[in-house]
Amino acid sequence: MENVKHTLDVSVLVPTYNESQNILALLSSIEKNLPKEMVTETIVIDDNSPDGTGKIVDEHIKNRKNGTNHRIEVIHRKTKKGLSSAILEGIQHSHGRLIVVMDSDFSHPPQIISRIVDELNQSDHDIVIASRYIKGSIIQKWPIRRKLMSKTATKISKSSLGLGVSDPLSGFFGLKRNIIQEKDLDAIGYKMLLEILVKTKGVSVKEIPYTFTNRKFGSSKLSLTTITDYIKSVWKLYLYGKSVKEQEKRVLIRFLSKAWRFYTVGASGLVLNYFIIWLFSDWLIDFWYLHANIVGIAFSLTSNFVLNKWWTFEDRDFSARKFFMQYGKFAGFSSLGAIIQIGLVFYLVEGHQMSYSLALIIAVLAGAFGNFSLNKRWTFNEKFWS
Ligand code: GDD
Ligand code: MN
Repeated sequence: MENVKHTLDVSVLVPTYNESQNILALLSSIEKNLPKEMVTETIVIDDNSPDGTGKIVDEHIKNRKNGTNHRIEVIHRKTKKGLSSAILEGIQHSHGRLIVVMDSDFSHPPQIISRIVDELNQSDHDIVIASRYIKGSIIQKWPIRRKLMSKTATKISKSSLGLGVSDPLSGFFGLKRNIIQEKDLDAIGYKMLLEILVKTKGVSVKEIPYTFTNRKFGSSKLSLTTITDYIKSVWKLYLYGKSVKEQEKRVLIRFLSKAWRFYTVGASGLVLNYFIIWLFSDWLIDFWYLHANIVGIAFSLTSNFVLNKWWTFEDRDFSARKFFMQYGKFAGFSSLGAIIQIGLVFYLVEGHQMSYSLALIIAVLAGAFGNFSLNKRWTFNEKFWS
Protein backbone atom coordinates (compact mmCIF):
# COMPACT_ATOMS: atom_id res chain seq x y z
CA MET A 1 0.00 0.00 0.00
CA GLU A 2 1.44 3.35 -0.96
CA ASN A 3 2.15 6.03 1.59
CA VAL A 4 -0.76 8.42 1.89
CA LYS A 5 -0.16 11.66 3.71
CA HIS A 6 -3.09 11.94 6.05
CA THR A 7 -4.67 15.31 6.19
CA LEU A 8 -7.78 14.17 8.05
CA ASP A 9 -8.65 12.54 11.35
CA VAL A 10 -11.20 9.95 10.30
CA SER A 11 -12.35 8.41 7.01
CA VAL A 12 -15.53 6.34 7.09
CA LEU A 13 -15.75 3.92 4.16
CA VAL A 14 -19.16 2.80 2.97
CA PRO A 15 -19.39 0.32 0.09
CA THR A 16 -22.78 0.26 -1.57
CA TYR A 17 -24.59 -1.89 -4.04
CA ASN A 18 -28.29 -1.16 -4.43
CA GLU A 19 -28.72 0.70 -1.18
CA SER A 20 -30.94 3.55 -2.41
CA GLN A 21 -33.35 3.04 0.48
CA ASN A 22 -30.65 3.28 3.13
CA ILE A 23 -27.90 5.55 1.91
CA LEU A 24 -29.17 9.06 2.71
CA ALA A 25 -30.35 8.21 6.20
CA LEU A 26 -27.08 6.44 6.77
CA LEU A 27 -24.94 9.37 5.62
CA SER A 28 -26.63 11.78 7.97
CA SER A 29 -26.43 9.33 10.85
CA ILE A 30 -22.71 8.80 10.28
CA GLU A 31 -22.10 12.54 10.32
CA LYS A 32 -24.06 12.89 13.56
CA ASN A 33 -22.00 10.22 15.23
CA LEU A 34 -18.56 11.50 14.32
CA PRO A 35 -16.76 13.74 16.83
CA LYS A 36 -17.53 17.34 15.84
CA GLU A 37 -14.07 18.63 16.69
CA MET A 38 -12.43 16.25 14.25
CA VAL A 39 -11.94 16.69 10.52
CA THR A 40 -13.71 13.77 8.90
CA GLU A 41 -14.93 12.33 5.61
CA THR A 42 -17.34 9.67 4.42
CA ILE A 43 -16.42 7.90 1.24
CA VAL A 44 -19.11 5.93 -0.55
CA ILE A 45 -17.81 3.32 -2.96
CA ASP A 46 -20.59 2.47 -5.35
CA ASP A 47 -20.41 -0.17 -8.07
CA ASN A 48 -22.79 1.47 -10.50
CA SER A 49 -25.83 0.29 -8.54
CA PRO A 50 -28.79 -0.30 -10.88
CA ASP A 51 -31.08 1.33 -8.31
CA GLY A 52 -29.19 4.61 -8.64
CA THR A 53 -27.49 4.71 -5.21
CA GLY A 54 -24.48 6.49 -6.69
CA LYS A 55 -26.53 9.23 -8.31
CA ILE A 56 -28.51 9.79 -5.13
CA VAL A 57 -25.26 10.46 -3.31
CA ASP A 58 -24.07 12.78 -6.10
CA GLU A 59 -27.27 14.84 -5.75
CA HIS A 60 -26.93 14.88 -1.99
CA ILE A 61 -23.35 16.19 -2.19
CA LYS A 62 -24.42 18.92 -4.61
CA ASN A 63 -27.15 20.13 -2.27
CA ARG A 64 -25.13 19.94 0.90
CA LYS A 65 -24.03 23.05 2.73
CA ASN A 66 -20.27 23.31 2.98
CA GLY A 67 -18.30 24.72 5.83
CA THR A 68 -18.48 21.86 8.25
CA ASN A 69 -15.68 19.60 9.42
CA HIS A 70 -17.18 16.79 7.42
CA ARG A 71 -17.05 16.07 3.70
CA ILE A 72 -18.75 13.40 1.64
CA GLU A 73 -17.37 11.86 -1.50
CA VAL A 74 -18.46 9.10 -3.80
CA ILE A 75 -16.28 6.80 -5.86
CA HIS A 76 -18.10 5.48 -8.91
CA ARG A 77 -16.91 2.15 -10.19
CA LYS A 78 -18.21 0.87 -13.50
CA THR A 79 -19.08 -2.69 -12.49
CA LYS A 80 -19.79 -4.76 -9.40
CA LYS A 81 -16.35 -5.83 -8.27
CA GLY A 82 -17.05 -7.08 -4.78
CA LEU A 83 -17.09 -5.81 -1.21
CA SER A 84 -13.41 -6.28 -0.34
CA SER A 85 -12.16 -4.58 -3.44
CA ALA A 86 -14.53 -1.68 -2.77
CA ILE A 87 -13.10 -1.31 0.73
CA LEU A 88 -9.55 -1.47 -0.60
CA GLU A 89 -10.27 1.21 -3.17
CA GLY A 90 -11.79 3.32 -0.40
CA ILE A 91 -8.67 2.90 1.73
CA GLN A 92 -6.42 3.94 -1.13
CA HIS A 93 -8.57 6.94 -1.89
CA SER A 94 -9.07 8.18 1.66
CA HIS A 95 -6.92 10.49 3.76
CA GLY A 96 -7.84 9.85 7.39
CA ARG A 97 -5.33 8.89 10.05
CA LEU A 98 -8.07 6.57 11.26
CA ILE A 99 -10.22 4.45 8.98
CA VAL A 100 -13.66 3.06 9.81
CA VAL A 101 -15.34 0.50 7.57
CA MET A 102 -19.05 -0.35 7.71
CA ASP A 103 -22.01 -1.68 5.73
CA SER A 104 -24.60 0.70 4.40
CA ASP A 105 -27.72 -1.27 5.31
CA PHE A 106 -27.94 -0.26 9.01
CA SER A 107 -26.81 -3.69 10.15
CA HIS A 108 -23.95 -1.74 11.67
CA PRO A 109 -25.40 0.97 13.92
CA PRO A 110 -23.61 4.30 13.32
CA GLN A 111 -23.83 4.99 17.06
CA ILE A 112 -20.88 2.62 17.49
CA ILE A 113 -18.59 4.74 15.29
CA SER A 114 -17.73 7.17 18.05
CA ARG A 115 -16.79 4.26 20.35
CA ILE A 116 -14.49 2.88 17.68
CA VAL A 117 -12.89 6.27 17.11
CA ASP A 118 -12.48 6.85 20.87
CA GLU A 119 -10.87 3.46 21.40
CA LEU A 120 -8.40 4.06 18.57
CA ASN A 121 -7.63 7.56 19.77
CA GLN A 122 -7.27 6.99 23.46
CA SER A 123 -5.55 3.63 23.59
CA ASP A 124 -2.71 1.73 22.00
CA HIS A 125 -5.10 -0.47 20.05
CA ASP A 126 -4.38 -0.49 16.34
CA ILE A 127 -7.54 -2.26 15.25
CA VAL A 128 -10.95 -2.00 16.88
CA ILE A 129 -13.59 -4.52 15.81
CA ALA A 130 -17.29 -4.16 16.44
CA SER A 131 -17.83 -7.82 17.25
CA ARG A 132 -20.93 -10.00 17.02
CA TYR A 133 -19.45 -12.74 19.14
CA ILE A 134 -18.30 -11.34 22.44
CA LYS A 135 -20.10 -10.83 25.74
CA GLY A 136 -22.74 -8.16 25.35
CA SER A 137 -23.23 -8.61 21.61
CA ILE A 138 -26.60 -9.41 20.11
CA ILE A 139 -27.57 -10.61 16.65
CA GLN A 140 -31.10 -9.59 15.75
CA LYS A 141 -33.38 -10.97 13.07
CA TRP A 142 -30.90 -13.18 11.37
CA PRO A 143 -32.40 -16.51 10.23
CA ILE A 144 -30.89 -19.61 11.84
CA ARG A 145 -29.33 -20.55 8.52
CA ARG A 146 -27.28 -17.32 8.38
CA LYS A 147 -26.26 -17.59 11.99
CA LEU A 148 -25.03 -21.09 11.41
CA MET A 149 -23.17 -20.17 8.27
CA SER A 150 -21.52 -17.22 9.93
CA LYS A 151 -20.53 -19.27 13.00
CA THR A 152 -19.06 -22.03 10.85
CA ALA A 153 -17.15 -19.61 8.64
CA THR A 154 -15.79 -17.89 11.74
CA LYS A 155 -14.64 -21.20 13.24
CA ILE A 156 -12.89 -22.17 10.02
CA SER A 157 -10.84 -19.02 9.80
CA LYS A 158 -10.04 -18.84 13.50
CA SER A 159 -8.67 -22.35 13.64
CA SER A 160 -6.90 -22.45 10.29
CA LEU A 161 -5.36 -19.00 10.56
CA GLY A 162 -4.65 -19.04 14.30
CA LEU A 163 -6.46 -15.81 15.09
CA GLY A 164 -7.26 -14.83 18.65
CA VAL A 165 -10.17 -12.65 17.64
CA SER A 166 -13.78 -13.73 18.14
CA ASP A 167 -15.23 -12.03 15.04
CA PRO A 168 -12.57 -11.89 12.32
CA LEU A 169 -15.30 -11.78 9.66
CA SER A 170 -16.89 -8.62 10.96
CA GLY A 171 -17.56 -6.00 8.34
CA PHE A 172 -17.57 -3.25 10.98
CA PHE A 173 -14.16 -2.15 12.21
CA GLY A 174 -11.70 0.69 12.56
CA LEU A 175 -7.94 0.88 12.27
CA LYS A 176 -4.96 3.18 12.26
CA ARG A 177 -3.79 3.74 8.72
CA ASN A 178 -0.12 3.35 9.60
CA ILE A 179 -0.44 -0.37 10.31
CA ILE A 180 -1.36 -1.17 6.72
CA GLN A 181 0.80 1.42 5.02
CA GLU A 182 3.56 -1.05 4.19
CA LYS A 183 1.28 -4.00 3.51
CA ASP A 184 0.25 -5.42 0.20
CA LEU A 185 -3.48 -5.98 0.45
CA ASP A 186 -5.09 -7.69 -2.47
CA ALA A 187 -8.72 -7.80 -1.40
CA ILE A 188 -9.12 -11.51 -1.79
CA GLY A 189 -12.68 -12.56 -1.12
CA TYR A 190 -15.42 -10.95 0.85
CA LYS A 191 -13.60 -10.38 4.09
CA MET A 192 -11.24 -7.45 4.15
CA LEU A 193 -10.80 -7.58 7.92
CA LEU A 194 -9.61 -11.17 7.78
CA GLU A 195 -6.86 -10.28 5.34
CA ILE A 196 -5.85 -7.26 7.41
CA LEU A 197 -5.70 -9.36 10.59
CA VAL A 198 -3.51 -11.99 8.95
CA LYS A 199 -1.16 -9.46 7.38
CA THR A 200 -0.74 -7.30 10.46
CA LYS A 201 -0.41 -10.14 12.94
CA GLY A 202 1.03 -8.88 16.20
CA VAL A 203 -0.70 -5.49 16.34
CA SER A 204 -3.05 -4.78 19.21
CA VAL A 205 -6.70 -5.63 18.55
CA LYS A 206 -9.69 -4.66 20.68
CA GLU A 207 -13.24 -5.92 20.25
CA ILE A 208 -16.34 -4.09 21.38
CA PRO A 209 -19.85 -5.53 21.56
CA TYR A 210 -22.84 -4.19 19.64
CA THR A 211 -26.23 -5.21 18.36
CA PHE A 212 -26.21 -6.44 14.77
CA THR A 213 -29.60 -6.22 13.07
CA ASN A 214 -30.59 -7.71 9.78
CA ARG A 215 -31.29 -5.14 7.09
CA LYS A 216 -34.80 -3.67 6.81
CA PHE A 217 -34.54 -2.58 3.19
CA GLY A 218 -33.00 -4.24 0.19
CA SER A 219 -31.48 -7.67 0.14
CA SER A 220 -28.21 -9.36 1.01
CA LYS A 221 -25.63 -9.68 -1.73
CA LEU A 222 -24.21 -12.84 -0.25
CA SER A 223 -24.49 -15.66 -2.76
CA LEU A 224 -23.29 -19.20 -3.26
CA THR A 225 -20.10 -18.08 -4.96
CA THR A 226 -19.34 -16.11 -1.80
CA ILE A 227 -18.89 -19.38 0.04
CA THR A 228 -16.43 -20.87 -2.44
CA ASP A 229 -14.66 -17.54 -2.68
CA TYR A 230 -14.44 -17.55 1.07
CA ILE A 231 -12.81 -20.98 1.24
CA LYS A 232 -10.35 -19.92 -1.46
CA SER A 233 -9.42 -16.75 0.35
CA VAL A 234 -8.90 -18.55 3.68
CA TRP A 235 -6.64 -21.02 1.90
CA LYS A 236 -4.64 -18.21 0.30
CA LEU A 237 -4.27 -16.46 3.64
CA TYR A 238 -3.23 -19.73 5.25
CA LEU A 239 -0.43 -20.11 2.69
CA TYR A 240 0.53 -16.51 3.24
CA GLY A 241 0.81 -17.03 7.01
CA LYS A 242 2.87 -20.16 6.48
CA SER A 243 5.33 -18.44 4.18
CA VAL A 244 5.75 -15.59 6.67
CA LYS A 245 6.49 -18.09 9.44
CA GLU A 246 9.02 -19.92 7.30
CA GLN A 247 10.69 -16.68 6.38
CA GLU A 248 10.96 -15.72 10.04
CA LYS A 249 12.51 -19.07 10.80
CA ARG A 250 15.04 -18.66 8.03
CA VAL A 251 15.99 -15.21 9.30
CA LEU A 252 16.47 -16.53 12.82
CA ILE A 253 18.67 -19.38 11.62
CA ARG A 254 20.77 -17.07 9.48
CA PHE A 255 21.18 -14.62 12.34
CA LEU A 256 22.25 -17.32 14.80
CA SER A 257 24.63 -18.90 12.34
CA LYS A 258 26.31 -15.55 11.73
CA ALA A 259 26.59 -14.87 15.46
CA TRP A 260 28.09 -18.32 15.95
CA ARG A 261 30.65 -17.76 13.19
CA PHE A 262 31.51 -14.34 14.58
CA TYR A 263 32.26 -15.72 18.03
CA THR A 264 34.17 -18.67 16.64
CA VAL A 265 36.37 -16.20 14.80
CA GLY A 266 36.72 -14.24 18.03
CA ALA A 267 37.89 -17.34 19.87
CA SER A 268 40.37 -18.15 17.11
CA GLY A 269 41.70 -14.60 17.44
CA LEU A 270 42.28 -15.14 21.13
CA VAL A 271 44.32 -18.28 20.45
CA LEU A 272 46.31 -16.52 17.75
CA ASN A 273 46.91 -13.60 20.07
CA TYR A 274 48.42 -15.85 22.77
CA PHE A 275 50.48 -17.74 20.23
CA ILE A 276 52.00 -14.61 18.70
CA ILE A 277 52.83 -13.15 22.09
CA TRP A 278 54.53 -16.35 23.09
CA LEU A 279 56.37 -16.51 19.77
CA PHE A 280 57.64 -12.97 20.04
CA SER A 281 58.49 -12.72 23.70
CA ASP A 282 59.88 -16.15 24.64
CA TRP A 283 60.68 -18.20 21.65
CA LEU A 284 61.48 -16.65 18.30
CA ILE A 285 62.62 -13.17 19.22
CA ASP A 286 63.02 -11.62 22.57
CA PHE A 287 60.68 -8.60 22.28
CA TRP A 288 59.74 -6.56 25.27
CA TYR A 289 56.42 -8.10 26.39
CA LEU A 290 54.42 -4.95 25.67
CA HIS A 291 55.68 -4.83 22.14
CA ALA A 292 54.89 -8.52 21.80
CA ASN A 293 51.35 -7.72 22.94
CA ILE A 294 50.93 -5.02 20.34
CA VAL A 295 52.10 -7.38 17.62
CA GLY A 296 49.72 -10.04 18.94
CA ILE A 297 46.76 -7.69 18.89
CA ALA A 298 47.59 -6.45 15.40
CA PHE A 299 47.80 -9.99 14.09
CA SER A 300 44.61 -11.26 15.68
CA LEU A 301 42.66 -8.12 14.78
CA THR A 302 43.65 -8.56 11.16
CA SER A 303 42.88 -12.24 11.03
CA ASN A 304 39.56 -11.67 12.83
CA PHE A 305 38.64 -9.04 10.31
CA VAL A 306 39.53 -11.10 7.27
CA LEU A 307 37.83 -14.21 8.57
CA ASN A 308 34.66 -12.29 9.50
CA LYS A 309 34.58 -10.56 6.16
CA TRP A 310 35.05 -13.71 4.17
CA TRP A 311 33.43 -16.40 6.29
CA THR A 312 30.96 -14.79 8.73
CA PHE A 313 29.45 -12.12 6.51
CA GLU A 314 30.33 -13.72 3.17
CA ASP A 315 31.56 -10.45 1.74
CA ARG A 316 33.74 -11.15 -1.30
CA ASP A 317 34.50 -7.57 -2.26
CA PHE A 318 38.24 -7.24 -1.56
CA SER A 319 38.88 -3.96 -3.35
CA ALA A 320 41.49 -1.95 -1.45
CA ARG A 321 39.23 0.99 -0.71
CA LYS A 322 36.44 -1.08 0.76
CA PHE A 323 38.86 -3.37 2.56
CA PHE A 324 40.58 -0.60 4.47
CA MET A 325 37.43 1.30 5.22
CA GLN A 326 35.88 -1.80 6.71
CA TYR A 327 39.09 -2.64 8.49
CA GLY A 328 39.09 0.77 10.16
CA LYS A 329 35.50 0.42 11.28
CA PHE A 330 36.12 -3.10 12.50
CA ALA A 331 39.07 -1.96 14.61
CA GLY A 332 37.02 0.93 15.96
CA PHE A 333 34.03 -1.19 16.92
CA SER A 334 36.25 -3.85 18.46
CA SER A 335 37.84 -1.23 20.70
CA LEU A 336 34.36 0.07 21.49
CA GLY A 337 33.37 -3.45 22.52
CA ALA A 338 36.36 -3.52 24.84
CA ILE A 339 35.44 -0.13 26.27
CA ILE A 340 31.83 -1.28 26.85
CA GLN A 341 33.17 -4.32 28.64
CA ILE A 342 35.57 -2.42 30.90
CA GLY A 343 33.04 0.31 31.62
CA LEU A 344 30.33 -2.16 32.50
CA VAL A 345 32.55 -4.19 34.84
CA PHE A 346 33.50 -1.02 36.63
CA TYR A 347 29.89 0.14 36.82
CA LEU A 348 28.54 -3.19 38.09
CA VAL A 349 31.26 -3.80 40.66
CA GLU A 350 31.62 -0.25 41.96
CA GLY A 351 28.07 0.97 41.51
CA HIS A 352 26.11 -2.16 42.30
CA GLN A 353 28.47 -4.18 44.53
CA MET A 354 28.19 -7.10 42.16
CA SER A 355 30.76 -9.88 42.50
CA TYR A 356 33.62 -9.43 40.09
CA SER A 357 33.20 -12.81 38.36
CA LEU A 358 29.48 -12.26 37.69
CA ALA A 359 30.10 -8.70 36.50
CA LEU A 360 32.79 -10.00 34.16
CA ILE A 361 30.45 -12.54 32.58
CA ILE A 362 27.75 -9.94 32.00
CA ALA A 363 30.21 -7.40 30.66
CA VAL A 364 31.94 -9.84 28.32
CA LEU A 365 28.54 -10.85 26.91
CA ALA A 366 27.47 -7.23 26.50
CA GLY A 367 30.78 -6.24 24.89
CA ALA A 368 30.67 -9.22 22.56
CA PHE A 369 27.07 -8.50 21.62
CA GLY A 370 27.85 -4.84 20.98
CA ASN A 371 30.84 -5.86 18.90
CA PHE A 372 28.80 -8.27 16.80
CA SER A 373 25.83 -5.99 16.21
CA LEU A 374 27.84 -2.86 15.44
CA ASN A 375 30.05 -4.69 12.97
CA LYS A 376 27.12 -6.48 11.38
CA ARG A 377 25.21 -3.28 10.92
CA TRP A 378 27.89 -0.75 10.07
CA THR A 379 31.05 -2.52 8.96
CA PHE A 380 29.38 -5.11 6.77
CA ASN A 381 26.27 -3.07 6.04
CA GLU A 382 23.70 -5.68 6.93
CA LYS A 383 20.40 -5.18 8.63
CA PHE A 384 20.75 -6.12 12.28
CA TRP A 385 17.96 -8.67 12.04
CA SER A 386 18.71 -10.65 8.91
N1 GDD B 1 -19.36 -1.41 -3.77
C1 GDD B 1 -19.85 -2.63 -3.48
N2 GDD B 1 -19.62 -3.67 -4.34
N3 GDD B 1 -20.53 -2.82 -2.33
C2 GDD B 1 -21.01 -4.05 -2.06
C3 GDD B 1 -20.83 -5.14 -2.90
C4 GDD B 1 -20.08 -4.93 -4.11
O1 GDD B 1 -19.87 -5.83 -4.91
N4 GDD B 1 -21.42 -6.23 -2.32
C5 GDD B 1 -21.95 -5.81 -1.17
N5 GDD B 1 -21.72 -4.49 -1.00
C6 GDD B 1 -22.11 -3.65 0.13
C7 GDD B 1 -23.59 -3.64 0.45
O2 GDD B 1 -24.26 -2.61 -0.22
C8 GDD B 1 -23.54 -3.46 1.94
O3 GDD B 1 -23.40 -2.10 2.29
C9 GDD B 1 -22.32 -4.17 2.40
O4 GDD B 1 -21.48 -4.24 1.27
C10 GDD B 1 -22.61 -5.59 2.92
O5 GDD B 1 -23.38 -6.30 1.98
P1 GDD B 1 -24.63 -7.18 2.42
O6 GDD B 1 -25.24 -7.76 1.19
O7 GDD B 1 -25.52 -6.40 3.31
O8 GDD B 1 -23.88 -8.30 3.18
P2 GDD B 1 -24.42 -9.26 4.35
O9 GDD B 1 -25.32 -8.54 5.24
O10 GDD B 1 -24.91 -10.50 3.73
O11 GDD B 1 -23.02 -9.58 5.06
C11 GDD B 1 -22.73 -9.14 6.31
O12 GDD B 1 -22.09 -10.11 7.07
C12 GDD B 1 -20.75 -10.35 6.82
C13 GDD B 1 -20.23 -11.29 7.86
O13 GDD B 1 -21.00 -12.41 7.95
C14 GDD B 1 -21.94 -7.87 6.24
O14 GDD B 1 -21.96 -7.27 7.53
C15 GDD B 1 -20.51 -8.06 5.90
O15 GDD B 1 -19.77 -6.82 6.01
C16 GDD B 1 -19.95 -9.03 6.86
O16 GDD B 1 -18.62 -9.26 6.55
MN1 MN C 1 -26.18 -6.71 5.24
